[in-house]
Amino acid sequence: MSTEPVRLEELLAWYADAGVDVPLRDEPVNRFAEHEAKLKSIEKSRQAATRRQTSSAIPSPADRPPNLGVPSPQLAIPNTQAVEDAMALAAQASSLEELREAMLGFEGCNLKFGARSTVFADGSPLARLMIVGEGPGADEDAQGLPFVGRSGQLLDKMLAAIGLDRTKVYISNIIPWRPPGNRKPTPAETDICLPFIRRHIELAAPDTLLLLGNTPSQALLETSDGITRLRGAWKEVEAGERTIPALPSFHPAFLLRQPAQKRYAWRDLLNLSRRLQETADTQTKQT
Ligand code: URA
Repeated sequence: MSTEPVRLEELLAWYADAGVDVPLRDEPVNRFAEHEAKLKSIEKSRQAATRRQTSSAIPSPADRPPNLGVPSPQLAIPNTQAVEDAMALAAQASSLEELREAMLGFEGCNLKFGARSTVFADGSPLARLMIVGEGPGADEDAQGLPFVGRSGQLLDKMLAAIGLDRTKVYISNIIPWRPPGNRKPTPAETDICLPFIRRHIELAAPDTLLLLGNTPSQALLETSDGITRLRGAWKEVEAGERTIPALPSFHPAFLLRQPAQKRYAWRDLLNLSRRLQETADTQTKQT
């Protein structure tokens, strides 16, 4: 391959278009060779299993076990297994720190292998308001914190407009690992990560949720309705034993692209602020 500057520039642009826009390691990794080696090892195990099988009496098809235990190369990690693993791990976590540890050790989501960080949360876990976004972008992946890039700066301004800041809210995402090229997470990736954010909400136990954009709203409210239809109307999210009021609203990244929609986001913020005030008043009266 030519290493002339122009060719390198073209090559980098080609990678960026394909979603490869950050270097993760100093040395390149040949994933094709890794894949070939994996296929070879699977093939070897398959041949060994066949040899073992033919060297013993051959059972009739009805007596044969349904699966010899050698996965076909296409199967990789079945989605249902990854979801079950995520549910089991999330359920075992009895504190936010344990949940973070569980997510750091989880290997069932392909996104994790292309990300630098497991982006867990920011803000105060004791806050009454928890904000849930979609997933980390390049800045969040680099810093390991949610909403620190351009969308995050707009979110900070939106919060400031109703007298809040990061010390008074708790922020997380549906997806803790950056999807390559900032693409939307697939439904399968969302399904795998959902048990973690549900448990996260349950453990943080906020009074109120703000769901930013389609991905958290559809996933947590279990609907296929889009954010334009959902926004501005209070819904409920089940989190363990509790049912938490949740307000879907536009994602700041969408507002950066469509500034005319900010007026609706502003209405939602005022609605949210009123609800937070009412809940605070009720709690004061009860104490
Ligand atoms: N967008 C999100 O949904 N979450 C982040 O953390 C950053 C950008």
